[in-house]
Amino acid sequence: MSNKTPVGILGATGIVGQRFIQMLEQHPWFEVGWLAASERSEGRHYAEAARWRMKTALPERVARMVVSPATPDGAPRVIFAALDAAAAHELEPRFAEAGCAVISNSSALRMKPDVPLVIPEVNGEHIKLIDQQAWRKKSGGYVVTNPNCSAIGLVLALAPLHREFGLESVMAVTMQAVSGAGYPGVASLDILGNVIPYIRNEEEKMEEETRKLLGQLNGSKVIPGAFAMSAQCNRVAVEDGHTESISIRLKRKAKPQEIIAAWNSYRAEPQELKLPSAPDRPIVYLEAADRPQPRFDVDMGAGMTTAVGRLRPCGVLDWKFTVLSHNTIRGAAGAAVLNAELLKAKGYLG
Ligand SMILES: NC(=O)c1ccc[n+]([C@@H]2O[C@H](COP(=O)([O-])OP(=O)(O)OC[C@H]3O[C@@H](n4cnc5c(N)ncnc54)[C@H](OP(=O)(O)O)[C@@H]3O)[C@@H](O)[C@H]2O)c1
Repeated sequence: MSNKTPVGILGATGIVGQRFIQMLEQHPWFEVGWLAASERSEGRHYAEAARWRMKTALPERVARMVVSPATPDGAPRVIFAALDAAAAHELEPRFAEAGCAVISNSSALRMKPDVPLVIPEVNGEHIKLIDQQAWRKKSGGYVVTNPNCSAIGLVLALAPLHREFGLESVMAVTMQAVSGAGYPGVASLDILGNVIPYIRNEEEKMEEETRKLLGQLNGSKVIPGAFAMSAQCNRVAVEDGHTESISIRLKRKAKPQEIIAAWNSYRAEPQELKLPSAPDRPIVYLEAADRPQPRFDVDMGAGMTTAVGRLRPCGVLDWKFTVLSHNTIRGAAGAAVLNAELLKAKGYLG
C-alpha cells in the first residue's frame, strides 16, 4: 500500500485541474485519491467528464475514477482547488470548515487578511497566517492560496530586486496566453490574429496581489509593499506562457550586472529544503537579445523557472526588462503543489 498523502482535486476537469493530475502522477509525497467538479461532471468517469488537453497521456488509473460531488463528505484532508472564483467563494470555506487543508488557485479568498497568499521562494513565512483562521481554530482546516498567473512571474522577478535595492515603482504590460482563460476559454474567432486588451479584473489582481506578496508579515496581518504599481493586461494568441514587459524604479541605484547577479543567484527555502517541485534556479536571466520567448523558454525548470531577459535602461523609470512564466504550471498547479510541499515540510499537513 502507498504511504503517500492522499489528496483530492476540486475542479479536476478544468485546465488547472488537468495540470494537477499531470503533475501529481509521479509525485513522491502525494497521491490523487478523489476528484470533484460541477454537477455536469458528477458521477461520470473522469475520462468521459474531462476533455483532456495535456500533452502527456491521461493516467489510466485517473481515467477510471468517478467524479465525486463537490462536498467534503468522503473527501481527503488535503484538497487542491482549481475552481471558478464564484464556485470557490462558496466551496472553499465549506471544505476548510470541514477540517480540510485547501490549497487554492482561485482569486476568491486571496486578499482576505487571514488567508496567506504565498510564493514559497518569496514569502513562505506568510503561511503563519493560517493560525489566525477561524476554520483552523474550529476544525483544523484552513485555506492557503497562490497568486494570479500573471502576478507570480512578475513577483519572482521583482523579489530579489526589492530585497537588495528597494522598489519605488513598477509598470507591467502583459501578453497572456489563451490557456490562462481555462477551457474552452476565448473563442478562436476572437483571438486568432488578434490581441484583446482586456482581461476582466486581471489588472486589479496583479496590482493588489503584488503588494501583498512583497509585503511584510506583522503579527496577524500583512503590511502591503509600499511601492507604486500599474498593470495593463492583454490576451494574445499564445498557447502557454505569460510574457510581461516591465519597467521599474529602484530606491537604491543599481548597476545592470548587480541586477542580473541578483536574479541568477536567487535561491530560497524551497531550494534549501529541496522540495520536490522546486526548480534548482527560480529565476534565470537569458543573455540573448531576443529572449525569453514562450515557444522556446516556457518549459525552463519543468515550467517552474521564471525566465528574464532584455535588461536595459528605461527613459522614464530606471530599468526595463522582459519576464516569462508558465501560467498553468508556475502560475497555477505547480504553484499550489509547491505550496503543499512547503506546508508538509513545516508540519501543516499533519
Ligand atoms: N488557467 C490558468 O492559467 C490559471 C492560472 C491561475 C489561476 N487560475 C484559476 O484557477 C481556477 C480554475 O481555472 P481553469 O483555467 O482550470 O478553469 P476551467 O478550465 O474553466 O475549469 C473550471 C473547473 O471548475 C469546475 N466548476 C465550475 N463550477 C463549479 C461548481 N459550481 N462546483 C464544482 N465545480 C465547478 C469545473 O467543472 P466542470 O468541468 O464540471 O464544469 C472545472 O473543473 C480559476 O479560479 C482560475 O482563475 C487559472
